[in-house]
Amino acid sequence: MIRPVDSLLEYLSAQQARGISHLHLDPDARSGLRALSERLRTGKPGTGVPAVVATASVRPPPVRVLQLDELAPQEVTSPPPLPAPQLLIEGASRAEKLASLQRQADAWPPARALGSLREVLVFATGNPEARLMFIGDAPGYEEEKKRLPFVGPAGQQLDKILTAMGVARSDVYLSNIVKFRPATARQTTNNRPPSTAEIAACLPLLHQEIAIVRPQCIIALGGSAADGLLGRGGDVAALRGAWHEHAGVPLRVTYHPSQLLLAAHDTQVRRLVWEDLLAVMERCGMPISDKQRGFFPPKP
Ligand code: URA
Repeated sequence: MIRPVDSLLEYLSAQQARGISHLHLDPDARSGLRALSERLRTGKPGTGVPAVVATASVRPPPVRVLQLDELAPQEVTSPPPLPAPQLLIEGASRAEKLASLQRQADAWPPARALGSLREVLVFATGNPEARLMFIGDAPGYEEEKKRLPFVGPAGQQLDKILTAMGVARSDVYLSNIVKFRPATARQTTNNRPPSTAEIAACLPLLHQEIAIVRPQCIIALGGSAADGLLGRGGDVAALRGAWHEHAGVPLRVTYHPSQLLLAAHDTQVRRLVWEDLLAVMERCGMPISDKQRGFFPPKP
């Protein structure tokens, strides 16, 4: 006899084999699973068992999105990448074009197909006409809550950097290589960096953003952004301190602001980030005061 739990396990294993690590349970499915678990524990039928669980049906349960808490998404093999749909950018101004892109990014099928990214789109913020485009890795808890990139602790660190450069947040364009918060098991406020498959799934969106904004200079913040844009691995120490190019736009790699938070007392990392940003300011013809040049006195 096929038990309901066998068909459920078979269904979940099939999803897992496809690389899907997160599904959502609607309330009926939740109470169905509770009842099933009760029944397995006590050997007696639970109360209020929905038909789908109470019968020995081989149909999959009414699962839409189920949180498979025991699976760490990073450990799941990703399903083969879904080809990116054709992006049709409408509008005349850069702001209109970005709005058109954002609408298409909202339920971006290649990202959804992975099953390892959460559902809230965190697109970008800032000036569509900006000459500087900063690109991070992926939104975290705070960003997802506010649907804006760089509004959590790393964002506050980035704000300090922008102030030191003499630019406002509204002068620059801030985006991420991955547009949805990477999911983790039993996720609360914890975040994780995006996987290679997650980066590849979202990359077509960022390529379009770069084509629309056409910044004078891109700053890749951290290894994930650098690897996604340059395809040369994410070793920031090896990539920083030199000019690169992405789609004809000069690109500088530097440490992620979260690295500055981790190394709060390490002036060396701060110095290196500042050197990278001075190089960016020079390249973009931005005014640089003596005070700015002297933030970190030359080493003796
Ligand atoms: N880290 C990032 O790379 N991007 C964000 O938006 C927030 C934190």
